[in-house]
Amino acid sequence: MYDGPVDLHISLPGPGARVSGDLTSRIYRQLREAILDGRLRPGERLPPTRVLAGRLEVSRNTVAIAYERLTAEGFLVARVGSGTFVTGRRVAARAPGRTAPAGAAVRPLPRWEALAAAQAAGSRTGDGPAPVFDFRVGAPDGSLFPLATWRRLVGAELRATTISLAGYRDPAGHDGLRAAIARYVGASRSVRAGAHDVLVTQGAQQALDLVGRVLLGPGDPVAVEEPGYPPARLLFGGLGARVVPVPVDGEGIDVQAIPPGTRLVYVTPSHQFPLGTPMSLARRAALLNWADRHDAVIVEDDYDSEFRYSERPLDPLQSLDRTGRVVYVGTFSKTLLPMLRLGFLIAPASLRPALLAARRLTDWHGDPVVQAALARFIDSGELPRHIRKATRVYAARHARIAASLRDDFADLLVPVPSKAGLHLCARTKPGTPPDLLGAVRARARELGVAVETLADYSAGESPKDESPQCGLVLGYGAIPEERIPEGLRLLRRSFDELRGIP
Ligand SMILES: Cc1ncc(COP(=O)(O)O)c(C=O)c1O
Repeated sequence: MYDGPVDLHISLPGPGARVSGDLTSRIYRQLREAILDGRLRPGERLPPTRVLAGRLEVSRNTVAIAYERLTAEGFLVARVGSGTFVTGRRVAARAPGRTAPAGAAVRPLPRWEALAAAQAAGSRTGDGPAPVFDFRVGAPDGSLFPLATWRRLVGAELRATTISLAGYRDPAGHDGLRAAIARYVGASRSVRAGAHDVLVTQGAQQALDLVGRVLLGPGDPVAVEEPGYPPARLLFGGLGARVVPVPVDGEGIDVQAIPPGTRLVYVTPSHQFPLGTPMSLARRAALLNWADRHDAVIVEDDYDSEFRYSERPLDPLQSLDRTGRVVYVGTFSKTLLPMLRLGFLIAPASLRPALLAARRLTDWHGDPVVQAALARFIDSGELPRHIRKATRVYAARHARIAASLRDDFADLLVPVPSKAGLHLCARTKPGTPPDLLGAVRARARELGVAVETLADYSAGESPKDESPQCGLVLGYGAIPEERIPEGLRLLRRSFDELRGIP
């Protein structure tokens, strides 16, 4: 613990109102309060009476009497030669913690109140012990993260002279990282971009926020996939846009169903989230054509296509785009870790100055140390090496789940074909009661198995029987391969119990 004297703010009335006895009681009360509510912790040293008196512009005696009273009551102890310290004795008498004023008079915009309430409800459903068989979607396997290499690279950057350069940095991000990303997505995904086209962001989510800020006015229509990625839909709504969920079929978003006047279309063409199907080439062409005719911008979220288990991927919309309508968004949340908050966007030149202004005015820029470390990670070939290794692990999990869906769930579920990413989806067979999946999910959770349903990703009402939104989503980022068979056996048991099958 820091052993210098603590710097506690003590409020005293202005000089005109100063009466010595009154000042002593004020100092006494404020120190006592700070000890009881935990702002002053046991063992912390108070400033010498002379120093505190000087700072408060009162006589030394005024402070000394307050200290003596607190010492007599057991809050403080004086140690000759070293100072006056907070004792541990009186602290537990009251629960620590002060709180900011409730502030009932000030309220956020109703749409943000609604978003906060929805998030609080969502986090409550995730309460309880961690599931033994975790098929939830979202996180990659943290145990695959190349921690030793990462630690070395970040350590090297922290020692480097760049740290000694005070001041803000370029809102577009670390130059070396922008170049490394441009090369990397150019080679692996045929995205057309140079370093100057890349804006490094704190994950894909910030990229969506920046794009939304510079393109959307209040009430502007934004088309999102249905089912789709809730954080994108909710964010655009939070920015004041009018979000229109547009159905997804076997080829991708139904372009005909996008309302005229739509300003922005958010899609996940490589691996539709959450269904997992890629957008067909014909649909890509139709979407680009639609955007051209309707003067709209397409946001292409390519969030997890690095993990591919067969066949070549289709060209991204960004590389098919001839008129500069596509903003390509990428993230390192799946390939590395979500908590690193590293992502990027590649936008047409016409949007770039506004995007940079938005970045500067919101959080200015991300962490240059981590960005420089990532640049080295990519340039040294570690990223592709890590992706190859992780792909082998995820491919085995993907194959196990796909085989089990085919062999053990054939009477209940129809898998949605998917050859990439970190999750699989399966729709219920026609005739399945609409409320069965919710009950199965709850029973599976009791057995230690966490799964999600397609309805979790739907913006609409709860799905009706035979609706395309009736199904399960099985993530395999978090579950080791050897746990998959038992997890799926328990899932099957949950179905059987609820269908009354012994
Ligand atoms: C569709 C989609 N986009 C983006 C992300 C990642 O977002 P971020 O980079 O903000 O962590 C995810 C993560 O699950 C996702 O599913």
